[in-house]
Amino acid sequence: MRILSGIQPSGTIHIGNYFGMIKKMIESQNDGELFAFIASYHALTSVKDKELLEQNTFEAAVNFLALGMDPEKSTFWVQHHVKEVLELYWLLSNHTSMGLLERAHSYKDKTAKGIQANHGLFSYPVLMAADILLYDSNIVPVGKDQIQHVEMTRDIANSFNHAYKQELFVMPESKVDEIVATVPGTDGAKMSKSYGNTIDMFNTKKKIKKQVMGIVTDSKELDEVKNHENCNIYKLCELFMNEDELKELQVRYATPGEGYGHFKLTLLDKINEHFEPYVQKREHLLANPKEVHEILAFGASKASKIASEKMRILRDAVGLI
Ligand code: TYM
Repeated sequence: MRILSGIQPSGTIHIGNYFGMIKKMIESQNDGELFAFIASYHALTSVKDKELLEQNTFEAAVNFLALGMDPEKSTFWVQHHVKEVLELYWLLSNHTSMGLLERAHSYKDKTAKGIQANHGLFSYPVLMAADILLYDSNIVPVGKDQIQHVEMTRDIANSFNHAYKQELFVMPESKVDEIVATVPGTDGAKMSKSYGNTIDMFNTKKKIKKQVMGIVTDSKELDEVKNHENCNIYKLCELFMNEDELKELQVRYATPGEGYGHFKLTLLDKINEHFEPYVQKREHLLANPKEVHEILAFGASKASKIASEKMRILRDAVGLI
């Protein structure tokens, strides 16, 4: 079973990405053959600054490796190091209707916000389909916002298979963990780099504290009983705490005497404690870029073998001799 997913290097990695996808990917290294990549071509739709893209790509790689990506066991690479994906993107484009792309939530949401769409943004799901289909992926672990893209991948693969009367592509399935399908941000909306409501995993202690202290709550005073159910702090605590710890926290909400500031500090401790074991490895990798680049080159060579063989079959199937 092949498990594949990608992440855009479009900013600092936050706990939404971590619980939505990275953690599941790292854990799945024991369940099947893991393919994980940094979606550098996709990031071009939003990052138009050379240094920033280079820096973000490097940091995304460092973060994945620090968190437990095993480059020997799994295949871990940067999207643009395997160029076949762009060739497949073009083949698939010719089997993707305009209507399908017009219905994409990500495109509709961005244009509704007044973001001027270019062709890259519009055809983003086709490139994502190419990522998935090029490597014959069975399972695609993602957060809720990417489910539609995996469904579109299936539609495109079906049209292609139908046109050439052959099962050229494996049908992928998305895998979403309900509890973390949408990790809320500091304002309660989906945690997202583009909404500025993130809590970072690896940032200065001061910055993370500022983000946690900025979580939006109601205005109940210290001496009032508080309701944990719709509280943004509690929802984030659920990601880090076991049942006993959560029960204890519920009692604190129900007992007058503590304010939201106290609960935020409890959450902050949990976040720091959770990511602490990865800090040292991350610092080592940040200080040794050559090591990171070698790991990525090794991953790209493994991915390339599969990609070039797949493209050979596809070129032949469509008549590109
Ligand atoms: P990206 O970079 O926006 O996000 C990476 C992964 O993190 C998940 N995620 C979340 N999950 C839960 N709660 C949140 N608040 C949250 N924010 C982000 C996303 O669902 C995603 O799984 N298009 C993809 C990258 C990509 C890809 C692919 C993924 C390119 N090609 C092929 C899978 C297969 C993206 O923009 O993810």
